[in-house]
Amino acid sequence: MLFDFAAMPARERYKLLVSTVVPRPIAWIVSQDRQGHLNAAPFSFFNAFAGDPPVVGIGISSHEPGRPKDTRRNIRETGQFVVNLVSQEMAEAMNVTAIEFEPGVNELAEAGLTTATCVHVDLPRIAESPVSMECELMQIVDLGLQSGLVLGRVLAMHIRDEAVIDPAKYYIDTPGLKLIGRMHGSGWYARTSDLFEMPRIPRANWKLRGNTASAT
Ligand SMILES: Cc1cc2nc3c(=O)[nH]c(=O)nc-3n(C[C@H](O)[C@H](O)[C@H](O)COP(=O)(O)O)c2cc1C
Repeated sequence: MLFDFAAMPARERYKLLVSTVVPRPIAWIVSQDRQGHLNAAPFSFFNAFAGDPPVVGIGISSHEPGRPKDTRRNIRETGQFVVNLVSQEMAEAMNVTAIEFEPGVNELAEAGLTTATCVHVDLPRIAESPVSMECELMQIVDLGLQSGLVLGRVLAMHIRDEAVIDPAKYYIDTPGLKLIGRMHGSGWYARTSDLFEMPRIPRANWKLRGNTASAT
């Protein structure tokens, strides 16, 4: 079935995107306003976009046209934020921080979370989170009146000790992080425990298998 986005209301376009682009990792962002009020909220229009420089991006919408969500406003004002990743155990606390509290409310306190220090940014990270990235704002790409894409450079990463297999080789126990992803609708999530392995195929091996189409 064809869905022509030009002929559809914005809400329905959103529904199709979030029902199909899954699972999406969740950036649980800690930011701070100019007065020093801490803020935390989850965002699943999120991914890593480059390794060099190390760049993450988050699509953050507005409460109404021209009134960006607190996280985007804070990041624009201070140029700093922390992306914490969400493990299975933290799912419910993450959901509490998504409540649209009035500006100035500390969602971390509301969710009973504790904080730990960062080294490069003047912000705390979520201590219960297995992975936290200290980020500085590179650019906010304006996506019209409703949204903005925040691009941040990762300055440092904190990873729970038990999940680091070999620090010299930077080997991480990724399944052990038990991270969750966001699925369809407003309340479905995925665990990252249903895995399969598929090594890359070197070109020579592909040809040895008798596949000749690429040789023509
Ligand atoms: C799992 C999850 C993912 C979310 N992803 C996004 C997102 O990608 N972009 C967005 O604008 N809001 C997203 N939200 C909604 C925000 O978290 C919510 O509006 C929050 O109150 C914003 O907080 P703030 O105004 O303190 O920044 C998401 C909510 C949940 C529960």
